Formats: sequence, structure tokens, C-alpha cells
Amino acid sequence: MKITAFNGSPMGASGNTNVMVTAFLEGAEAAGAEVENIFLASKEINHCKACRSCVFSGGKCVINDDMEELISKYVESDIVVFATPLYIDNISGMLKVFLDRTICIGNPYFEKDENGETRGGKSKRFKNGVPPKMVVISNSGYPERSQFQAVSLVMKRVARNFHMELIAEIYAPAGMVLTAGIKELEPVINGYKETLCKAGREIAADMKLSMETQKSLEKINFIPVDVFIQKCNKMVDMMLAKTKTSNQSSKLEGVN
Ligand SMILES: Cc1cc2nc3c(=O)[nH]c(=O)nc-3n(C[C@H](O)[C@H](O)[C@H](O)COP(=O)(O)O)c2cc1C
Repeated sequence: MKITAFNGSPMGASGNTNVMVTAFLEGAEAAGAEVENIFLASKEINHCKACRSCVFSGGKCVINDDMEELISKYVESDIVVFATPLYIDNISGMLKVFLDRTICIGNPYFEKDENGETRGGKSKRFKNGVPPKMVVISNSGYPERSQFQAVSLVMKRVARNFHMELIAEIYAPAGMVLTAGIKELEPVINGYKETLCKAGREIAADMKLSMETQKSLEKINFIPVDVFIQKCNKMVDMMLAKTKTSNQSSKLEGVN
């Protein structure tokens, strides 16, 4: 069982998304999976040129960058984890650019899915012709679960397009607190990481989450909405005041 995570956060290893991915992969590894945590931020991934030459050349892309290596890891995986911070209500641009480039895995023929909707044929490039199962991991700044509506829809559509089964969606509203170093949140964050670890174990063992784990992942509430708004606004006030003071002192330095 090979599980590969593609993390689309520009913050890479130091980001909140990685806190989630690392805990999840730790669990998966403990359950016997071979895991790999890939940071797209440290790879050279250019935009798809839409030349379509890959479609008719057995998947060979004309762009010479890190995508060839990433695609080979993708198609050899039993499970892929697409991990992303919530960016303007959606997946990050970094993950989107990566996903656009996976068009070269595609099949040039068209077909109807089980609902009569058009999509590409099943790719022959996946290991044993079987597409990997998909897990989505994301976290946001804002504290409501509703913030992930678009991500959830987009990733369901991506799974449909590539004949993949979406086996878990793990969303952490206000996941921005995961790396914030807030002392009083440590117990709740540690508990959440343990649940993510359990989720990784279950996915590696059964390719699905138990109802119990699913429910405890969805229960996560790092910070009540009103407290979030109040604390963030206070922080904005402090930062603006600091900027004002430093602007004033640089003006004074200029005079002297
Ligand atoms: C460009 C940008 C856009 C963002 N857009 C949203 C958004 O639409 N909704 C939200 O809740 N948080 C938004 N955020 C906050 C991030 O989702 C949040 O800080 C997250 O924890 C970042 O994860 P990372 O540390 O792994 O990059 C945005 C942050 C950035 C930098």
C-alpha cells in the first residue's frame, strides 16, 4: 500500500496543512503503508500550456520540469492525499497548477459516466490500470465548516473526472491555529492530531474512515466564531498601531 501526499501550501513543511498531513501519514505508516509527503512548494511546476501534445503522445508532456517525477509517484500510488490551505474559498493555486498538469495522465477518448455526464476515459497509466483512491485534507483561516463548500465540490468533480474514489475529506476550520503556538489550545490540538493519526491508520488498513473517526474529525472546533472575530480584530488593531509607530519613527529618522 503506497500513500503519497501532495501538499499545495506555499508554507510547505512549516504550514498548518503539513501539521494535518504529517499526523495522518504517521498513522498510515504505523498501519504498514509506505508513505511519502511531497511539498509542491519545493518543486518546479509550470503552468499547463494547453498544447494537448500529451494526450496524443502517451502522456508525454512537452514541459521539462518536476512534473514527470511527480506523475510517476502519483500513478504508482494506491492512495493520493491532496492537501491544501483554503485560498479564496478554494484549493490553493499551487495545487490547482499541479492538478492541471495531471491532464497528461488522461485518456484521449470520451465517455459518459454512470449519470450520463461526459468525462475522459479511464487512464491506462495507473498501476494495474486502477486509479488511486483520493483523500482531501484542508484547513482554513475562518472558523466555520461551511468555508470548505467549494473545495469539497471541486475535489468531488476532480475525482469523478479521473475515475477516482474520494474516500475521505478532512477539513479543519480555523486550522491556522495549528502552528500559532497558542498555549491554551495545545490539549485540543494534540487531541486533533491523535484523531488524524487514527484516520491515517484506518485509511491505510481499510481504505475508509470509521463513522466514529469521521464524527470526531468533524467535531473539531478550535475557537468559537465570536472569540475568533474579536481576537483577530484585536490583533489587526495591534499590528496597525505597530506599523503606524514604525512609520512615524522612520519619518523622524529621515528628519534627523
Ligand atoms: C492568499 C490567501 C488566501 C486565503 N483565503 C482564505 C479563505 O478564503 N478563507 C479562509 O478561511 N482562509 C483563507 N486563508 C487563510 C489560510 O487558509 C490559513 O491561514 C491556513 O491555515 C494556511 O495554511 P498553511 O499554513 O498550510 O499555508 C487565506 C490565506 C492566504 C495566504
